[in-house]
Amino acid sequence: MSSTCLEFKDLTLGYQRHAAVHHLSGVVARGSLTAVVGANGSGKSTLMKGVAGILKPISGSIDAAYRRLAYLPQQSDIDRSFPARVIDLVSLGFWQERGLLGRITRSDKTRLLACLAAVGLSGFETRSLDSLSGGQMQRALFARTMLQDADLILLDEPFNAVDERTIRDLLALIRQWADEGRTLLCVLHDHALVKSHFPQTLLMARKPVAWGMTADVMTPDHLSKARTFQEAWDENAGWCEEPGPTLLPQPADDLLQGRDVARRAAHV
Ligand SMILES: Nc1ncnc2c1ncn2[C@@H]1O[C@H](COP(=O)(O)OP(=O)(O)OP(=O)(O)O)[C@@H](O)[C@H]1O
Ligand SMILES: [Mg+2]
Repeated sequence: MSSTCLEFKDLTLGYQRHAAVHHLSGVVARGSLTAVVGANGSGKSTLMKGVAGILKPISGSIDAAYRRLAYLPQQSDIDRSFPARVIDLVSLGFWQERGLLGRITRSDKTRLLACLAAVGLSGFETRSLDSLSGGQMQRALFARTMLQDADLILLDEPFNAVDERTIRDLLALIRQWADEGRTLLCVLHDHALVKSHFPQTLLMARKPVAWGMTADVMTPDHLSKARTFQEAWDENAGWCEEPGPTLLPQPADDLLQGRDVARRAAHV
């Protein structure tokens, strides 16, 4: 397989012909761990939906090369009042393998229980979703993601409204998935966490502001540019023809180096 998992080619995504992500070009390397950051409304979730295939490009394209994709939407998109148990939610992780009506075998059940144990939810199988705390719900969603055994994983604000211990536990899973060679894109607002755990970063402000090694992207200059652009944004703007972003080089050595930095940081 090639070393490229995703390639964005002058990608523009949006709604009712209003662009929310403009002119994104660049490559997500296979096995890379990338944070997607930016202010509210900067197009992060839109980009995740584009990669997940929920939103078709207005123009440009996404070339994707993966076996299986797992997408964890922003929590606000998930209806928890639906009468379902933890086991029902996590079982959805099987649908790409089995189809929606496929039978779950005894060994599937063992795998499912192992995933629940890995996220610290042993014994929660029959609990109803609306009885879970926010952190427990997020753990259940991580168990579903784990069960999917995807090689491309999209996480949209996975640490929203969860406590530090849960963040630590879920970060360890993200680290493990990256070490297994899976490709991850993770939307985050916590810059300290991005700097300490994510080797690559894409900084968005409706358009890409910078993309590359995290230390090169999360500079005061880029963050200030992102703020200025986001604040100046006209919500009613129709079309635009913006120049391209600051694309930083992403040589393979840097990727590996970045990964080591993140691994060391995770063990502190
Ligand atoms: N379904 C939709 N229909 C119309 N406009 C939308 C829709 N979803 C998002 N938008 C708009 O697209 C823009 C980008 O939204 P998006 O959800 O991608 O931002 P975000 O970076 O994920 O923000 P946040 O940090 O608040 O989650 C916003 O102006 C938003 O109002
Ligand atoms: Mg969002």
